Amino acid sequence: MTMDNGSRSVVTTAPAPADRSLLNRCPVVPVVVLDHPDQAVPLGEALLAGGIDVIEVTLRTDAGLEAIRRLSALPDLHVGAGSVLVPDQADQVVDAGARFVVSPGLSVDVVRRCLALDVPALPGVATASELMTATALGLDEVKFFPAGLLGGPAAIRALAAPFTRMTFMPSGGVNAANMADYLAVPAVPAVSGSWMVDPTLLRAGDWAEVTARSADAVARAVAATSG
Ligand code: 3PG
Repeated sequence: MTMDNGSRSVVTTAPAPADRSLLNRCPVVPVVVLDHPDQAVPLGEALLAGGIDVIEVTLRTDAGLEAIRRLSALPDLHVGAGSVLVPDQADQVVDAGARFVVSPGLSVDVVRRCLALDVPALPGVATASELMTATALGLDEVKFFPAGLLGGPAAIRALAAPFTRMTFMPSGGVNAANMADYLAVPAVPAVSGSWMVDPTLLRAGDWAEVTARSADAVARAVAATSG
């Protein structure tokens, strides 16, 4: 809507309806394994500089929980937790500031705890049976893991056919070279992976390279979805 206040035109927009979709937020979700929580904030700033405003911090190292806490202080970053295996970890990461919860597989107990905590759950699926369980839990977004070994984009196309409302975030073997093939699948709004946050870059403090890889990934995603 455009209004004229006398001296200049002012464009106002009606508030957008709340979009609880995680996968529509950013087409690239970096999966991070941190050695030390001190890596967290410089990493978050490097991702933001490259145009990525979402991060999945895994609990695979002891640094994960504290890293989630520190990254959650960055107002522009949407911080989630990954490798959440049991319900108590969902409580811990939400307490630390996580705004979504990713698991490598589908645990009904973890998903139910996330629903109770009112935080989006993104469980990993690899089979149609797990998709049926995810559907029964009311989910419409899942992680597809490990995507490369499960058959890549062709496997997602086949699995998505009967689950017409489900969207998928492939992870595991996704990289700059193949991400466009995944994003070409209509049921794939976002991909995830570690290539732009390789642990060797984090250990070296090579934040410029993290930013460069992030910007490259975003550019590839835009190119893949805009034509
Ligand atoms: C994940 O947890 O999603 C994967 O470990 C990321 O896989 P990648 O390292 O092959 O990107």
